[in-house]
Amino acid sequence: MAKIGEPFDSTLLDEIRDKFYYVNYDPDMGKRIFFENSGGSLRLKESVRVKSEYEQFPDCPERVHERALFLNEIQKRGTDDILNVICGAKSGALVTDLTASEINFDVLGCIAENVTGMNIVTTALEHPSAFDAAQYHCARTGKELRVAKANPKTGGVDAEEIIKLIDKDTCCVSVMSASNISGAVLDVEKIFKEAKKINPDIYCYTDAVQHVPHAAVDVEKIGADALVFAPYKFFGTRGTGFAYISDRLSVLHHRKLIAKSRNVWQLGSPTPSNFASLSAIVDYVCWIGSQFAEHKLTRREQFLLGMDKIRAHETALFDHMLNGTKEIQGLRSIPGVHVYFDDGDLAHKDLILAIAIDGIDYKECVKEYARRGVTVYERVTDSIYSKRMLDAFGLKGAIRISPIHCHSFEDVEEFLIITKKIAEMAARTE
Ligand SMILES: Cc1ncc(COP(=O)(O)O)c(C=O)c1O
Repeated sequence: MAKIGEPFDSTLLDEIRDKFYYVNYDPDMGKRIFFENSGGSLRLKESVRVKSEYEQFPDCPERVHERALFLNEIQKRGTDDILNVICGAKSGALVTDLTASEINFDVLGCIAENVTGMNIVTTALEHPSAFDAAQYHCARTGKELRVAKANPKTGGVDAEEIIKLIDKDTCCVSVMSASNISGAVLDVEKIFKEAKKINPDIYCYTDAVQHVPHAAVDVEKIGADALVFAPYKFFGTRGTGFAYISDRLSVLHHRKLIAKSRNVWQLGSPTPSNFASLSAIVDYVCWIGSQFAEHKLTRREQFLLGMDKIRAHETALFDHMLNGTKEIQGLRSIPGVHVYFDDGDLAHKDLILAIAIDGIDYKECVKEYARRGVTVYERVTDSIYSKRMLDAFGLKGAIRISPIHCHSFEDVEEFLIITKKIAEMAARTE
């Protein structure tokens, strides 16, 4: 069968792995495979290093001294990296907070309070922070929350299911870019385009926390008013959430210092180290792009090329995970293993798999993996972070496997051998 995707060559992959902390070991626990990047990704060394470097300066970036001006430049560069290089925005403004969840509550609340229209449309698969924010603000503003149902085959939500809920009175459509449970990529471009045909004034919102580490995004192309992401899922550090918001959203009535411009959302003293840490991620993706560039590219073009190459490598890993090799069975053929949402369409999947193994409970299975040096995570209905989505798929649970582009075919093969051992053990004790 033809191989899908395009893996990095081994020299480049070695260089990539060297730029990250703890790709194949934990300093205290020893050798391990970290396939839990959806819960927080492997860390880029440079992103961690610059965060500490810029924290060493006491200067407020809003002063006139040389160091302050330098720190201010770091912040400006980071802002440009977020809005233009990562999001592809030609205009718009930045929202920052400690987490993506806080941004979801804040920005969806702003839309609900300011925009006329009596309903918000969202999906059953949203992360609780986007879903509950929509529900909370609908309740506060007397709007109806309409929820599109999931497709258990693809692990996503069909665009038609969302579009049919939208009418002239829908003030906002909030759809995640990719599911943190199934890895399915939602067709936000089509959804937002169709939504605007029904109500040209509708606000289009996407939580892209799980998608941004796996693919390039473009807010102009998809027509988003807001796109939210979190650096700690994107090779960076914990402690910040970032969002692009469109010009028209940026000037809606929101919490701000009165004297600042209408489109300013940030409050309080700026933190240049967070921006430096983010720019280090962009530098890194651009560096990958530059390995393949045949002529001089802009920073955004380099970034896009880098993300495309990351995606191609991850697709190859995904295919390897499903199909294995002649000698090592892939997940599709290991007896007792079930791969959910396996519809054969890797073009619409980020590198997140959901599986189950016969004869072993999800939580026990995660422990068995851990005993064998593999970190994965169970998604079960007793977790508030999974219940609604699993119910929407008609599942009781799943083991989530989420590698990233730093992983190799060898890591995948080791994982497959371990999975087969767990499946055999479970079959014996059943
Ligand atoms: C899709 C999605 N949105 C939002 C969040 C929340 O991100 P944060 O932890 O920054 O609040 C997560 C976290 O797992 C997520 O997967």
